[in-house]
Amino acid sequence: MRIIVKETAREASKHIADAIIGTVKAKPDAVLGLATGSSPLEIYSMLKTDHQNRKTDYRKVRTFNLDEYLGMNPHDPHSYRHYMEKNLFNALNIRDENTHLPDDAYKEDPAAYDERIEAEGGIDLQLLGIGLNGHIGFNEPGVKAGTLTHVTRLEESTRKANARFFESPDEVPTHAITMGIQTILSSRRIFLIATGKKKASIIRDVVDNGVNNAIPATFLKTHPDVSLILDKDAASML
Ligand code: GLP
Repeated sequence: MRIIVKETAREASKHIADAIIGTVKAKPDAVLGLATGSSPLEIYSMLKTDHQNRKTDYRKVRTFNLDEYLGMNPHDPHSYRHYMEKNLFNALNIRDENTHLPDDAYKEDPAAYDERIEAEGGIDLQLLGIGLNGHIGFNEPGVKAGTLTHVTRLEESTRKANARFFESPDEVPTHAITMGIQTILSSRRIFLIATGKKKASIIRDVVDNGVNNAIPATFLKTHPDVSLILDKDAASML
C-alpha cells in the first residue's frame, strides 16, 4: 500500500483527479469505480472543470458506483444516484446508460452487479473514501474477505455519520447494497482519499494493523496497486 501525504485536501484531490483524467485519456472506454460522501466532492469538481476547459471525453467511459441505499427511489435527493447526477454526471458528456449503481434492481441478485462489471471488462480505477469505522463502500466491520456485491445492514455509527445528509437521523436507511471486498479488490488500481483530522485515527489503525475484518479497509493491503492519498491532517497520527 502506497501512502502519499499532500499538504492540503485540495492537493490530495488534485492527485486523484489527475489519475482519473490520465486513465480516461489513455483508455477512452475506461471503467471507473466511483464513490459518494464528502471526500470525493472536490475531485468531481476538478473533473468537471477539466471537462469544460480541456474537453476530456467521457462518451465511452463506463462507471460503477460502490453503493446505494436499499429501497431508495433514484429521484430521491438522498439517493447516491441523485448525488452522482448532481455532483458529476450532469456536467460530463457521459451516457446515462453507461453509469451504474447497485440500486434496487440488484436487490434479488446483488452478485449480478459483479457480473455486469466483469462483462464491461472490469474496473480500471476504483476511487474510495473511508468511514470512521474503517468501512469501504458499505463493507462494515465483520465483513468477510471474499464478498461480492451484497445487501448489508448499516451500523448505527454509520447511520449517525450519514445523518448530516438527511433531515433527521431516523430517515437514514437501515440497509444498503454495496460492492463487496472481493469486488473492490478485483479493480486494477485503487485510490483511497482521506482528509481532515476526523480521519486521522482510522487511517492510523489501517496503517498499523494487519489484514483483519474488524477494520475492512485493511483488506486493501492484499492488493498490489493501492494508494492512500492523505492530507496532512488525516496523516497526523502516522
Ligand atoms: C459513506 C459511503 C462510503 C464513504 C464513507 C465516508 O458511508 N458509503 O463510500 O467512503 O461514507 O464518507 P465521507 O467521505 O463523507 O467521510
